Order: sequence, then structure tokens, then C-alpha cells
Amino acid sequence: MKAIIAAGGRATRMRPITHTINKHLIPLANRPMIWYAIEKIVDAGIRDILINVNPGEVELQKSIGDGSRWGSRIRYVEQAGGPCGLAHIISNAEPLIGDEPFLFYLGDNIVLGSIKNLVDAFYEEKADAMLALSKVPDPNRFGVPVIENGRIIKVIEKPEKPPSPFAVTGMYVYSPRIFEAAKSIRPSERGELEISDAHTWLIEHGGHVGFREVTGWWKDTGKPSDLLVGNALLLDLLTKEDSVQAGDIHADATVSGRVRIGKGTRIGANTILRGPVVIGENCTIESSYIGPFTSIGDNADIRNTEIEHSLIMNNVRIQARTRIVDAIIGMSAQVRSAGSSLPSGHKLIIGDHTVVEL
Ligand code: DAU
Repeated sequence: MKAIIAAGGRATRMRPITHTINKHLIPLANRPMIWYAIEKIVDAGIRDILINVNPGEVELQKSIGDGSRWGSRIRYVEQAGGPCGLAHIISNAEPLIGDEPFLFYLGDNIVLGSIKNLVDAFYEEKADAMLALSKVPDPNRFGVPVIENGRIIKVIEKPEKPPSPFAVTGMYVYSPRIFEAAKSIRPSERGELEISDAHTWLIEHGGHVGFREVTGWWKDTGKPSDLLVGNALLLDLLTKEDSVQAGDIHADATVSGRVRIGKGTRIGANTILRGPVVIGENCTIESSYIGPFTSIGDNADIRNTEIEHSLIMNNVRIQARTRIVDAIIGMSAQVRSAGSSLPSGHKLIIGDHTVVEL
């Protein structure tokens, strides 16, 4: 079986971070988000993977390569005409997928359990589509199934009044009948060829659309706060064995819990690191407290600051003399204390679409 990962789209809800980085390369626990999708697919025994990208994309190819890192083959498919909807990805990739079942995986979804049971259920039920459902508090953000007598009879995309408490998550297994469905539907009001409409088309044309409830945790990283939740969850998976401390740790620093420190990183005096925490390579952390559920990328310089439950990317410099929580700080950003400089007040140089809570 082949798999195709969706990794195009506009990612407007993730601005300003996505002004300079493809959403699917945002680091969670210091690894690009899409790497987790690739690992799940490879764990399910699939090694022939296509990645749908926006026309002209180059960064994803640089980060992921040809798949040899995962013992698999990875090829890239440009979505002709740009991000026209999830069903459009399927029609666009049909020549490369061929006339056979395949797995479709949205590259911004994070799931903890295995997806192998979804593939098994697809074959057991001889389904045309096997959907993974998850009970969520806010189904109106997702595709929502209408379920009657244990069967899905329709899927509605982002309904104002959700007909069930389930979201259709971004992991799907299809028979080649999905190609006909994807070609038969019309764009929705928001101008996209919706995957939910393709599911409804299949049902209305006699296809069997089965489902399984996702075992374990699932998250669609649609908005910035989802990144913090995903980051925390993946940090929590850090094991004692992963907690390699390659850096240089001062005798006066305290490191407790699961903490991974990269090569060339210096943890200075009067510093407390309380895991789960991941710190990249060639960083300096001095006179600071780095609390649980924080990831810090490479080449960061952090002094005189407390940070907790935050996602800090590469090349960041922080000398804030205050406490930073629930923060996402993009590459090469600087946060520093204004000290006693006059006029007093917050002095901000803020890029487009930035959010600051003072
Ligand atoms: O996460 C699950 C939800 O994903 C489902 O419940 C919805 O039914 C489904 O429509 C989808 O909704 P979203 O609004 O979250 O989709 P989004 O536009 O965020 O796109 C999902 C992924 O697919 C994301 O990684 C970007 C990529 N994408 C998206 C579009 C529209 C593409 O590669 N090409 C596209 O044309």
C-alpha cells in the first residue's frame, strides 16, 4: 500500500510563524511536525510515500529528503493550481497512486496510537473508505459524521450544529473508488473540493464508508495554541533513555526529570532545568529556569529568564528578567528586558500577524 501525506495549504491561521517556515516543518519537541506523520506511516508497514506540496515548494524536500532516513521511498507531488482542497490532492496524485488502495494522512495531524488498526479494518470490512473518528469538544471545526444505526450516512464539513460529537480525523484509507468521488464533487462555499463531500458522494453511490474510533490522543494543529499542546504531549513521551545530556553542565546547575541536552550546549551556573525539556545544540542557558514542557531549538542564548510550557525555535536570544509561559517564539527572535532605559514601557518591533500578551 502507498500513502500520501498532505503538506501543502496556506496555513494562514499559523501566522506569523508560517511567514518563514512551512507549517509542516514547525518543530515539536525539536523535530519537524511532519516527521511524526512519516513515522506513523512507516510503523504501519507502508514504505512507499508521496508528499503533496504547494507548487514551487523546496523546504520540505530539503528537510525530508528521499525517505532513506526511514528506510522508505518518498516522492513529492506538486498540487497543480495550489491548495484547492483535500479531495483535489487525491485527483492530482491519481497517476502516481495508481489503481490500488492507499492511505491518506494530513501532515498537520498528530496521533499517539498506531494507525495499523485502521488499515486492518479497511481490509476486514472491504471498505471504500475507512475513517478514523475522535470525540472532540468542538466538532464544528472539523468534518463531522452523521451516524445512524452504527453506520455513517453522511459527512458534513464544519457544521454550525454538529450532528455528532465526533471529528473525522486526518487519517483515511481508501479504495480506488475515491478517485471517482473526488472528480464528481463540486467546490464548497469556501471554494475547496472537500474531502467530506467525497465521503458523502461515496455513501450516496453505494460505497461502504466504515470508521474506527482513534485509540489514544489525536490533535489537528490548526491554530498556534494547538502547537503548544502537541509540543507538550510529544515532550511527555521523552523517556529516561532519550534523556541524553551531551552538553556541558555547570556544577551549580540543577537538572531534574527527563531532560535532553544537545551537543555543544552550555548550561551555566544558577540554572534549573526541570523536565520534560528538550534543548538543541550549541545553546547557552545561564541564570535561568527552564520548566516542564519546554523545547528550545539550536543556537539559543537564554539568560536571566524563567520559561515554562513554551516552544522556542532556533537562534532565539532571550534575556527577559521575567517569566515567560505558554509562548511560541519563532526563529531568530529576540526578547530582552528594557531595564531602566527611558522612556520606560514595552519597546516592541513586531512583525505582521504577531500576537503579544503583556
Ligand atoms: O484535521 C482534520 C480535518 O482536516 C477534518 O476533520 C476535515 O474534514 C478536513 O477538511 C480538514 O480540515 P482543515 O480545515 O483542518 O484542513 P486544512 O485546510 O487545515 O488542511 C489539512 C492539511 O492538508 C494541512 O496539512 C494542509 C494540507 N492541505 C490543505 C489543502 C486545503 C493541502 O496540502 N492542500 C490543500 O489543498
